[in-house]
Amino acid sequence: MKWFFIGIALSVFLISCKRPAERRSKSDGIEEKIDSLIGLMTFEEKIGQMQQLHFSQSVSDSLFNLVRKGQVGSFLNADSLELRNKLQRIAVEESRLGIPLIFGRDVIHGFRTVFPIPLGQSASWNDSLVKAAARIAALEASSQGIDWTFSPMMDIARDPRWGRIAEGCGEDPYLTSIMGIAMLQGYQDDLKNSSSLVACGKHYVGYGAAEGGRDYNTTLIPETELRNVYLPPFKRFIEEGGLTIMSAFNDLNGTPASGNEFTLRQVLRNEWNFNGFVVSDWNSMPEMISHGYCKDEYEVALRSIVAGVDMEMVGNAYYKNLYSLVKNGEITERLINESVRNILRVKFKTGLFDQPFTEVEKQPFLKSVYLETARKLAEESCVLLRNDKNVLPLNERISHIAVIGPLADANLDQLGTWSPDGRPEETRTPLLALKEIYAEKIVYAKGLENSTDKSEKGFSEAVTAANKSQVVILFLGEGALLSGENHSRAYLRLPGAQVKLVENIAATGKPIIVVIMAGRPLILSDIERNADAILYAWHPGTMGGPAIADLISGNKNPSGKLTVSFPRFEGQIPVYYNHRNTGRPASKLNTGITAGDPVNPVNAAAAYLDLDYTPAYPFGYGLSYTTFEYSDLTVSADTISMNDELKVSVVVKNTGKYNGSEIVQLYIHDRYASLTRPVKELKDFKKIALEPGESKRIEFYLTKDKLGFYNQSGQFIIEPGDFEVFAGKNSFDVLNARFYLK
Ligand code: BGC
Repeated sequence: MKWFFIGIALSVFLISCKRPAERRSKSDGIEEKIDSLIGLMTFEEKIGQMQQLHFSQSVSDSLFNLVRKGQVGSFLNADSLELRNKLQRIAVEESRLGIPLIFGRDVIHGFRTVFPIPLGQSASWNDSLVKAAARIAALEASSQGIDWTFSPMMDIARDPRWGRIAEGCGEDPYLTSIMGIAMLQGYQDDLKNSSSLVACGKHYVGYGAAEGGRDYNTTLIPETELRNVYLPPFKRFIEEGGLTIMSAFNDLNGTPASGNEFTLRQVLRNEWNFNGFVVSDWNSMPEMISHGYCKDEYEVALRSIVAGVDMEMVGNAYYKNLYSLVKNGEITERLINESVRNILRVKFKTGLFDQPFTEVEKQPFLKSVYLETARKLAEESCVLLRNDKNVLPLNERISHIAVIGPLADANLDQLGTWSPDGRPEETRTPLLALKEIYAEKIVYAKGLENSTDKSEKGFSEAVTAANKSQVVILFLGEGALLSGENHSRAYLRLPGAQVKLVENIAATGKPIIVVIMAGRPLILSDIERNADAILYAWHPGTMGGPAIADLISGNKNPSGKLTVSFPRFEGQIPVYYNHRNTGRPASKLNTGITAGDPVNPVNAAAAYLDLDYTPAYPFGYGLSYTTFEYSDLTVSADTISMNDELKVSVVVKNTGKYNGSEIVQLYIHDRYASLTRPVKELKDFKKIALEPGESKRIEFYLTKDKLGFYNQSGQFIIEPGDFEVFAGKNSFDVLNARFYLK
């Protein structure tokens, strides 16, 4: 019931919380305004619009002069509102044409109120809540003069070694699209109002497929895979009004993404009619020299402008070379005008021309409704992986609870990667929150200083705490700095001496609840046998502590489900649910194999001799304190024609003792197609609440747009044939039915 009130309070708040000064700009008339501005601009001023500088790039008179001369279009990382307004004043009042600057920053999962990392947010499968979080991030960030965020990241990631898996929404294109749109809508909501942020879909495209999970690495993605898996979230982002796109660092099939005419011009502009602007990633244009694609910055500028990058982030290949490129007849000024037009269009659409300055607001941060939203999202993001003996929720009669581990009270680590504006001192840790509930029942020992600590000197204190208690809650995982950009890992176990700590505590014989905070799926096989329960909390943000305490105490019931498959072993990567079949598919025969203990081959299959082929925890998986049973999957017809809608319904019953929420998932499999299709593809889901004993029939509707795919010629086609449809609690545990599409 409380959730309901929070929901109402949040909606009332979101409607009423518009800043008084409206940025007005009529969408009609914008092109004419741009025409007349471009007509007045010098070549230098045009190139200026295409240049984005980093804020700390020597704040000096010469910088002010660049702005005064109209030679900068944008800044990133505006640390001070005063300086931001000062630069804007120079641009608007002292430059010849008064074109406002646009200020960007990485507001990735909140600003001062930090929400869970995006991978965690996606595990809530609650797009309204994700949208509310993005809205709050926009309110807080825009109050500091930020106009534009470099979010959402919509890279599909199937490799947990890649540190940036934390920043995305997992391995599924459909769910990533839903979550990306939710973030976009939260940021760009009511764009003419100064409390919005322009969103930036990144990293275009394929960056998440970095070979071996090594950041910035080469990607080789066939066009069919690109169109069916990696491009769809970006396409949806643009259809929903996303205004900017960031070109990625990676080499895509031999052409770096920031000089890639196919993806940037053919797909983005010609096929999707994108009319916002493309910004390069940080220095990604000059890096095409290291890629071996361009021999110097002159060629970098040529390749990038021809491909369709409108604004260069940080580097200055454009600034130095565009003039010569036109003078030497390599490109026409029309190409430059196009980019300038794209940039000015976004500046007009956001109302920057009408309201370029940010007024100082007294208390823009951490309002109670923001914190409640952060708490709820952190709670819904947590995934209960195991609860073998129902050790969770904690029994009320317990008199002593040991809280142990390097992440129990790590206020910086729990904020996760990309939270430059979050403040540790404003973060509520699990230790703090558990003490608020259990007071003197809590016996705390850190055990290890941080997640990579190898020293065992804190172990005896930890063991003493465990011995004094009836249950142990161990807070383990990886610190914030072990995931994120340029933080790939090859070893996905708990780092430092954490496994040893678990073993020492297990020797006490006390029941152990493990709470993991991490930026990626970790391999948990080293501790599973000693853990009675495992709750995966990701890096949960400012309100992670109270959210976790709510779940541990049973005040709330876990409902999150994984949006990425968890491997059993590093050697199994990549493991993802929506893979294709083979001629010799793995089967039950390839399960139950002890890791590292080879068996004789029993069949010819795409599997291992020395490892179960299934993931440790599959996509869509997550437990609750209650149990749900699925029955009676029904399709409205055995055969449908192209324009019919197929109703698929399934009965879900709460068969346990607690109120709970379940994420009901719908998958399809196109059984025979002219291009082989994944064994399962998520097509819809619903998050429903059920009381004990209650059951509901959940309905989904499948239309032809959900049944098609992009073929070898890049066309979206819908082929008649046999389909299988699945509904269930995760990508493995499903009921199935068949239908035929005529
Ligand atoms: C990252 C981007 C980020 C940019 C600006 C780059 O290193 O790849 O995701 O938006 O920096 O900070």
